[in-house]
Amino acid sequence: MSSQDIRILQERRKNALKGGGQERIDDQHKKGKLTARERLDLLLDPGSFEELGMFVRHRSSDFGLDKNKIPGDGVVTGFGTINGRPVAVYSQDFTVFGGSLSEAHAEKICRVMDHALKVGIPVIGLNDSGGARIQEGVVSLGGYADIFLRNTLASGVVPQISAIMGPCAGGAVYSPAITDFVVMVKHTSYMFVTGPNVVKTVTHEDVSFEDLGGATTHATKSGVAHFAAENEGECLETIKKLLTYLPSNNVDDPPRVNMGDDVGRMDERLDTIIPENPNKPYDMKEIIRAVVDRGEFLEVHELFAPNIIVGFARLDGFPIGIVANQPSVLAGVLDIDSSIKGARFVRTCDAFNIPLVVFEDVPGFLPGTDQEWRGIIRNGAKLLYAFCEATVPRITVITRKAYGGAYDVMNSKHIRGDINYAWPSAEIAVMGPKGAVEIIFKKEIAASKDKEAAVAAKVAEYREKFANPYVAAERGYIDEVIIPSETRPKLIKALKFLENKVDSNPKKKHGNIPL
Ligand code: HXC
Repeated sequence: MSSQDIRILQERRKNALKGGGQERIDDQHKKGKLTARERLDLLLDPGSFEELGMFVRHRSSDFGLDKNKIPGDGVVTGFGTINGRPVAVYSQDFTVFGGSLSEAHAEKICRVMDHALKVGIPVIGLNDSGGARIQEGVVSLGGYADIFLRNTLASGVVPQISAIMGPCAGGAVYSPAITDFVVMVKHTSYMFVTGPNVVKTVTHEDVSFEDLGGATTHATKSGVAHFAAENEGECLETIKKLLTYLPSNNVDDPPRVNMGDDVGRMDERLDTIIPENPNKPYDMKEIIRAVVDRGEFLEVHELFAPNIIVGFARLDGFPIGIVANQPSVLAGVLDIDSSIKGARFVRTCDAFNIPLVVFEDVPGFLPGTDQEWRGIIRNGAKLLYAFCEATVPRITVITRKAYGGAYDVMNSKHIRGDINYAWPSAEIAVMGPKGAVEIIFKKEIAASKDKEAAVAAKVAEYREKFANPYVAAERGYIDEVIIPSETRPKLIKALKFLENKVDSNPKKKHGNIPL
């Protein structure tokens, strides 16, 4: 080998690093976006990136493509580390054919996904693409399908995280949609099946790109995005933080991080956090933050269906997934969106061996024609199904209401909740006192002279009998009634006790969750 050979290689590398050229890189920056490689630099540990397929070029000749071949073909692929842990990555390069997906581009993505699945490491995709490479036609569509198949086969085996950092339109949206988490960047990214122009033609609606499929829309209305980041840096930081709670694969445990928080720490504020009036709201997030290590809680789907809270935290350094009703939004009722949000999160945690901790204060399922006609039965069943099938350690703390079917659904003992705690303020009953007495004492109330006083007397009787945790505790449905300030040490001890839990479901091809 001569020095000339090495010089040629270096020249080729230098050329590949330019992507679509300085002009297009400048355009990208003007839009407030980083390039594919700059993003990888921010995401990965310094110097850890190893590129694969740098010289891959497309093989098309239609529409003059044979005269325009750019090394890498619009996507940078390879592997690296984040906080020392290996990950597989692909980062679409908008400066090359608008990051559009060709046959060769798809092959590069598939190759890193195949590696990730064999090695058992997360796949992180940074998406910034005009979609299918129009000049390549069906070959490009086939490339997408090859990726969708791999997303599906990898689902539940290795974590898959999608960052949306530019356009993501048409069928291309379905790859991120199959992955575990979608992080979008506000104002510079969008996802939709058809853009504003098609929408205008078909439904005559006038809608902007941002309103139709921007980060805020998907984080609040559709639930497609789990996180909406203010900028690209925040988007990449969110991915890094998320990974700290996830194992590398489904046979690995999530990494323990010593947070330096006292395992025996009690918080007296919790003893008075539940209002005297059972119809008064309070913020469940205050309870979560008071209990978990250093109050650190990575909320997932923060802006979507906020009547349920889901997210990651740690107890004694071990990652946990939290599912909690939020009494300060719609009284914490379960509706279609909150059921779907909760179900998805429970299944994510179960797939990746992350114990579940449930904080429960739920008045039931939301009544009404809107919910019934849109399928609260089918959708509520998703949350029930998700809890029923989960085999990770599962702990419940009932802080106040656990009414009706929602009592069963929210990780009750009957559906394999391992340790079920209740605070003394817990009310575990078929329904709230007023509704209950109006049904069971209908005739007596109707016959009484002072109906209001009759209802009040019966409500007091009902409350005395059912609106407490002790009937359930006598049955063993509640393992222990605990003093609220003890919650943290109790949860930590229970998790330790359950650390080596083994449970399984009957052997089957797969269950049939009501989709
Ligand atoms: C080939 C594409 C391309 C594409 C963009 N480019 N999209 N090349 N195939 N799909 C090229 C442009 O020709 C241009 O090349 C460069 O990328 C930058 O594009 P601009 O239009 O100049 O950029 P901008 O103004 O920022 O607009 C970005 C855009 C727009 C909104 C993404 O390019 C666009 O609408 N593209 C088409 C989107 C689309 O309809 N894709 C198909 C979706 S259907 P030059 O050389 O001029 O710089 C689909 C099906 C997938 O993807 C199905 C899977 C099952």
